Amino acid sequence: MPASLILPKKVSVVTLPSTMAFFASLYSHEGEEIHIDCSQFDFADPMGLCFLRYHLDLVTYLDCTVHLDGLVDWLALYLERMDFFAGLDKVYCLNKPATRVRASLDHVLVEMTKIEYEHEIDAAAGRLAKAMVGASETSTEPDPDGMKPSPADRLQAVLQYVYSELINNAAFHGRARGRKQSEIWVAAQYYKKSGDVRLAILDDGCGFLESLRGHSALMEETDASAIEAALRPRVSCNRDVLRGRGLDSANQGIGLTASKALTIAAKGTVDIFSGRAWYRENPTGRHFRQLRFPWQGVGVALTMERALLQEIEIASIISNVAPLRERRSFNFE
Ligand SMILES: Nc1ncnc2c1ncn2[C@@H]1O[C@H](COP(=O)(O)OP(=O)(O)O)[C@@H](O)[C@H]1O
Ligand SMILES: [Mg+2]
Repeated sequence: MPASLILPKKVSVVTLPSTMAFFASLYSHEGEEIHIDCSQFDFADPMGLCFLRYHLDLVTYLDCTVHLDGLVDWLALYLERMDFFAGLDKVYCLNKPATRVRASLDHVLVEMTKIEYEHEIDAAAGRLAKAMVGASETSTEPDPDGMKPSPADRLQAVLQYVYSELINNAAFHGRARGRKQSEIWVAAQYYKKSGDVRLAILDDGCGFLESLRGHSALMEETDASAIEAALRPRVSCNRDVLRGRGLDSANQGIGLTASKALTIAAKGTVDIFSGRAWYRENPTGRHFRQLRFPWQGVGVALTMERALLQEIEIASIISNVAPLRERRSFNFE
């Protein structure tokens, strides 16, 4: 008898525990035909989309055939709009649009991208940042004296910085420790109504704990402790190795810390999960939660207010996170 599962109403980082419980249930049906009832499903954020795409791919690779039943038309259109079905050969959806529909959904923008090769990273980060700025219709007018970059330029610079740091982390740290083949998925969306920008970067690599094992900043051998250590400025798995030889700017251990600081400066929310730990921070507080269904790898989801994001100057945030004086002495130690 074919298996029958129900896709939760919301598939997002906000509902991470139930989202992960659903995905775990997919794997008890190896080799079978799985019917997923999508009639209650009505929202997926970029992280939810990355997860859904990743797991459907994996489960069909394990010889399952998946049917998405009862998916409402506008969601089917939406999934098609972001290339969700591309490459998912054994996933069937009756109301999947036969032809690509682009123009009718130009009020939203989601770019789902799988990053395969290292040389793609910078171009992908630039393209994603540009696409997000375009979707948000941010002003490209410079200030009257022409002294300050336009809001669009600043927004693009911040997004490009964050994308590039986080994708590089997934590609270089996540794919270390015997996990060369790990996958990286990136998705983003601008929500016109709330003015929020949401980004997600998901990898199935070695995770924070494995990456920082043996590092002096790791207080305990736990996933939560590893996230905490990674968020501290100038903590890098490269640090011990490169100590005394000078570090290039890509390896100063500030990429994650600065990405978090930029998000918080835009009154945003940061979600980071790895193994059994899930960390959430926003201007009202921060906390860790334990996940019943762990994630092998790292997921980072950021939600930011566009209006604030476009006022941010990266340089001043970075110099706050890692003051120049300390950075200089660090470089020459
Ligand atoms: N996607 C990831 N997978 C595994 N480990 C990661 C990942 N992202 C970050 N880390 C760990 O967190 C540390 C801090 O990251 P970051 O602040 O970007 O500094 P850097 O990349 O310069 O080391 C990394 O050195 C690595 O140990
Ligand atoms: Mg980094």
